[in-house]
Amino acid sequence: MLKKATAWAPVNVALVKYWGKRDEKLRLPANSSLSICLQYLGTKTTVEFKPKLQKDSVILDGKVLGKREYSRVVEHLNRVRLLAGSKLKAKVVSENNFSKSVGLSSSASGFAALSLAASEAVGLKLSSKDLSRLARLGSGSACRSIGDGWVEWRAGDSDKNSFGETLFSQSHWDVRVLVVLLSQKEKKVSTTDGHKLAPTSLFYKKRLEFVEKTLISIKGVVGERNFSRFGELVEDEALNMHAIMLTSKPNLIYWLPETVRVMRAVREWRNEGLKSYFTVNTGQNVFVFCMPKDEGEIVEKLKGLEGVIEVRRDQVGRGARLVKKHLF
Ligand code: PMV
Repeated sequence: MLKKATAWAPVNVALVKYWGKRDEKLRLPANSSLSICLQYLGTKTTVEFKPKLQKDSVILDGKVLGKREYSRVVEHLNRVRLLAGSKLKAKVVSENNFSKSVGLSSSASGFAALSLAASEAVGLKLSSKDLSRLARLGSGSACRSIGDGWVEWRAGDSDKNSFGETLFSQSHWDVRVLVVLLSQKEKKVSTTDGHKLAPTSLFYKKRLEFVEKTLISIKGVVGERNFSRFGELVEDEALNMHAIMLTSKPNLIYWLPETVRVMRAVREWRNEGLKSYFTVNTGQNVFVFCMPKDEGEIVEKLKGLEGVIEVRRDQVGRGARLVKKHLF
């Protein structure tokens, strides 16, 4: 049955990164990864399939999408239509509760919310596994924004066995995540293009040899709730992915001077006894992990750094879900 449906999906932060694909079209990753869903940062999307529409209409944060982004959304709606055996066009309205201009990647929460809202609107009842597979086809990391809490994406080797699944629920361990938004002037290379360059790095093969071991280690320390070990491993893993970016051809320097400033400050505070650790995806923002007791002090210190425009406090949260309040 057709209906208007609205979904909310969180941004997820990778602890073990996905960088490089084994299959471009199916978005199958070269390695497995692990992330946490955030509680507050995310995307809300309303979808309605309507008999009278001539073409799909998509509004994101109050604006009509550019050609490239629009085609990506239409392709995703086509996947949903194919599953449902429908030809109807859809109206889609989507909102991020963070500004896209600060460069926080929104494709994960965006495609997770779109997958859930569109499949519900067209009358499909997908399992969490099938929703994750669908979201993965829109944007790889989106498959980790469906399940709750700490989500593992087993790489798999086919469309059927590559999806995200909850490893631990959000209540397993209260790690705080500070999202540090930095002033951004440069235009970044999209992650879709970045993934393609990964195999050109001399170190890529080596990374693929040990990244699955890193995953096992990080899963172990999360299970034990060992914060120091967790932080050390997560920082190392982020720098390892950036080593691939920095050495691909052409090389990708995603860091801004401000990114490095935050990374160094976090290390300095740690040496002084204030425990926090960082991870970075594409450079314009840094995620800082800490324990609840240190959160207030670290937020104040981060706000004092040159180039930091905002610090958002977040924590481990649930995955995608349907909500009642529609956007139109
Ligand atoms: O899903 P994509 O294509 O936006 O890739 C995400 C890549 C990283 O954010 C750098 C790492 C990750 O695992 O999220």
